Amino acid sequence: MTTRKDDPFFGELYLRTTKPFISEQVTEAEAAYLRQVFTDHAPEGPLVDLGCGHGRHLAHLTGTRPVFGLDRDWLSLEEAKAITPVARGDFSGLPFKSGALAGAWAWYNSVCTFPDSDFSQLLREVHRCLKPNGLLVIHTSPREKIATQPDAHAEHQLPDGSRLVEDAHYDPSTGRDLARRQLTLTDGRVMAADFFIRYYSLPELLRVLEAVGFRPLFAHGGLGFEAPSPEAEDLIVGVSRG
Ligand SMILES: C[S@@+](CC[C@H](N)C(=O)[O-])C[C@H]1O[C@@H](n2cnc3c(N)ncnc32)[C@H](O)[C@@H]1O
Repeated sequence: MTTRKDDPFFGELYLRTTKPFISEQVTEAEAAYLRQVFTDHAPEGPLVDLGCGHGRHLAHLTGTRPVFGLDRDWLSLEEAKAITPVARGDFSGLPFKSGALAGAWAWYNSVCTFPDSDFSQLLREVHRCLKPNGLLVIHTSPREKIATQPDAHAEHQLPDGSRLVEDAHYDPSTGRDLARRQLTLTDGRVMAADFFIRYYSLPELLRVLEAVGFRPLFAHGGLGFEAPSPEAEDLIVGVSRG
């Protein structure tokens, strides 16, 4: 799997430029959705947040069973570990015993920033770590929706006075949205990174998941459990280890 040792995107740049846009209300609604699907579809046992970031969902999911965060970024984990136990690790080799987990979720494209072969490898790793009937939930956006806005440019002044500029271009031949994010801090320091998000249509995503051995359980187009649609903002897929 491709590893980026000092990831120029995740870490300080990502945290500074994402946290101001995610409200507690949205996080609570996402966590309520996750609580429901794990209650309905996962066996007893621990859950892990794959790419937990600063741990915004973790606090809402602890209580009824053990919940852990997993991420590669030290800075994010510093925040997340104040909420629940966390593990530093890479998706390419998860630090869990085979069959140890009742469920796992990957929210906000956490597992969609990789070449296709790496994506399959990380899914095999998750499959290995889940117990029979364990549930994996993946959150992304439908490829068709992204294709309707192939070019995007955004500029924002963040609450701390820093200036964010982002340009993105969707490549329909690869399903990748290629982006460059630049943040200029008030002291003049500039942080910048190129990154991509690989978007999937629902049939494409299910094909990859089924090839690894997962069994489709549900797909939703939003937090209200609505049917998936190419026009929806969200694509949420739940699959069982079988
Ligand atoms: C888009 S963020 C989402 C964070 C969180 N799930 C949320 O919804 O706010 C993706 C997270 O995945 C982590 N990540 C990216 N590649 C990873 C890898 N190969 N192994 C482990 N974590 C990784 C990043 O450090 C980042 O915290």
